[in-house]
Amino acid sequence: HKLVDLIAACPKTELHLHLEGSLEPAMVFALAERNGVILPYASVAELQAAYQFNNLQEFLDVYYAGMSVLLHEADFYDLTWAYLQRVHQDGVVHVEVFFDPQAHLERGIPLATQIHGIRRALEQGQAELGISFRLILSFLRHLSEESAFATLAQAEDFFPLIDGFGLDSSEKGHPPEKFARVFARCKELGFKITLHAGEEGPADYVWQALNLLHTDRIDHGNRSLEDPQLIQTLAERQMTLTVCPLSNLKLRVVQQMEQHPLIQMLDSGLKVTINSDDPAYFGGYMMDNYRALIEALPLTSEQLHQLARNAFTGSWLSPEEQQPHL
Ligand code: HPA
Ligand code: ZN
Repeated sequence: HKLVDLIAACPKTELHLHLEGSLEPAMVFALAERNGVILPYASVAELQAAYQFNNLQEFLDVYYAGMSVLLHEADFYDLTWAYLQRVHQDGVVHVEVFFDPQAHLERGIPLATQIHGIRRALEQGQAELGISFRLILSFLRHLSEESAFATLAQAEDFFPLIDGFGLDSSEKGHPPEKFARVFARCKELGFKITLHAGEEGPADYVWQALNLLHTDRIDHGNRSLEDPQLIQTLAERQMTLTVCPLSNLKLRVVQQMEQHPLIQMLDSGLKVTINSDDPAYFGGYMMDNYRALIEALPLTSEQLHQLARNAFTGSWLSPEEQQPHL
């Protein structure tokens, strides 16, 4: 398809990517072997067969189980390096990636192990693949405010290695307001913040993310479309939404790609970007997402360029750093 070739050749940035969600089944097995971890699955095929989700929680259960093979610095390095090599093939030149430290701290993996492994790969990606990066520490919203504050305190030694903070995991019943004080502190410390909101949770959670937590980006944001006033506010503020089409399909946020509201979002003036979220679990990386959209929706070349450009202007690169990509 001509449009696929066009967007493939276009420099791209990924703003919504959970590193632990790029853990491919083959690497789960390789790391289990290397680390002597016993898996409840007999084969890669058996593990892959478990990747059938009816909602966010069913995915998260498998996602947290999968990452149990990540124990050592080298594991976090291998995970991150594999992701960077993969998206390099897709024409991705800048990434802003999440990691979930609380999920590893709970298993006794020190923050230093996690961050040093991840950063070593990110710096190698910058040097050898020309991929610039930002690293985002994401709090788990199903855990308490106290746990988030404790994690923030532990992260203090690593502040120079972190660029911002995020909020992910089970959305329903865990509104942004639960973490208002945590993110106020992050902002006070000079960090950017970006919050998952409106994936499964209601439009009200997006309002909270905007007006109570003063977020710099919204991750997902699909359910904003249920509130015309919210659509208008997001459009006026040119708030970046990191939309994840294959994720939306796999977690049944949309029932079919043909029904994905991406074009409606663009037509409403929303600043939308395309991202892969958890590519090892949702069926593909950056170009797989674009390919699925192009096959399902009547997107124009102008709209595709707009999507790619939005990600650069919505990134945390400085205007000078963005310029060569626009
Ligand atoms: N939503 C919420 N939490 C997550 C996701 C997601 O799409 N991926 C990894 N953690
Ligand atoms: Zn996500």
